[in-house]
Amino acid sequence: MKSPNEPTLVVPRPQVPHRDLLQLQVLPDEAQLRADIERLRREKNAVILAHNYQRPEVQQMADFVGDSLGLSRQAAKTDAEVIVFAGVHFMAETAAILNPEKTVLLPDLRAGCSLADTLTAQGIRDWKAGNPGGLVVTYVNTTADVKAESDYCVTSGNAVQVVQSLPQGMPVLFAPDRYLAAHVIRETGRQMDVWDGACHVHEAIRPEDVQGQQAAYPDAELLIHPECGCSSKILGTIPELQLYSTEGMIGRAKTSPAQAFIVVTETGMVTRLEKDVPGKTFIPVSRTACCEYMKMITLENIRDSLVNLQPRVTVPEEIRVRALKPIERMLAIG
Ligand code: 13P
Ligand code: SF4
Repeated sequence: MKSPNEPTLVVPRPQVPHRDLLQLQVLPDEAQLRADIERLRREKNAVILAHNYQRPEVQQMADFVGDSLGLSRQAAKTDAEVIVFAGVHFMAETAAILNPEKTVLLPDLRAGCSLADTLTAQGIRDWKAGNPGGLVVTYVNTTADVKAESDYCVTSGNAVQVVQSLPQGMPVLFAPDRYLAAHVIRETGRQMDVWDGACHVHEAIRPEDVQGQQAAYPDAELLIHPECGCSSKILGTIPELQLYSTEGMIGRAKTSPAQAFIVVTETGMVTRLEKDVPGKTFIPVSRTACCEYMKMITLENIRDSLVNLQPRVTVPEEIRVRALKPIERMLAIG
């Protein structure tokens, strides 16, 4: 039992590593894997596109690392014959919709998305039946058959611009992310019906997680993704706060006078920020903010997918042509 005069041991707050436990995987022979991937991508004329939430070693091997919008743009313009998508299923599907003649590989087909899973094509058809002539705006985190029922597709990088460009006087459904919808409604003033979906990773980030890191790093600036469940509450106390897509965070970190940032999104983002904005400090809001789907892609399964040209992601032509229209609108705006 501690005596009342005994000093309380102050344990320094641990520096949260940007590689969380899920990312700490001992690779059998990383150098050999890298050499194999280098050789195979030349032989097969392949490009590796990686999302900002990918493991550090996967980001390092990619030809391009970016947000959903940047990845769609790269997929639209690449002249490689094979696209290896280091991301999740809806991203590979978007690449396949844009490139029906190319081979699109997703190294682990289990890499899905909890947010995309909240919405079905039938859900949209039901809304349309009750709202004739209404417009459907869906986040890119949706399946191809949901996109085929949509009028516009958006990412967190251009959702506000797309909604601003919509004709007035029509009912609008914004789906499936209710937190991104709240952000868009705040920014545009447009009233919309909102699908009740959310991403399990971003929804789990609590205002207390943000406040805890703010107390520990009082000079750090907040970089908050609009998918976060905490965003509305924090905006209530700091109304001038901006929310950023993952790529938007890079731009802000480069131009901001702040030297340290609390990164309020999936932990992989810290890897990308540290690479692109050297000399500044990036603190993950919570080391448990980790998308297990994103982390299913590894150097090993990238190598295997290049060897076998499997597993492929394809979209039936009848769905593809209908899903292409909202994606092309998304690429044209913002
Ligand atoms: P962005 O990269 O478009 O900001 O989206 C984040 C995300 O959750 C992707 O699944
Ligand atoms: Fe989907 Fe969330 Fe993972 Fe992004 S972070 S891929 S929205 S589950």
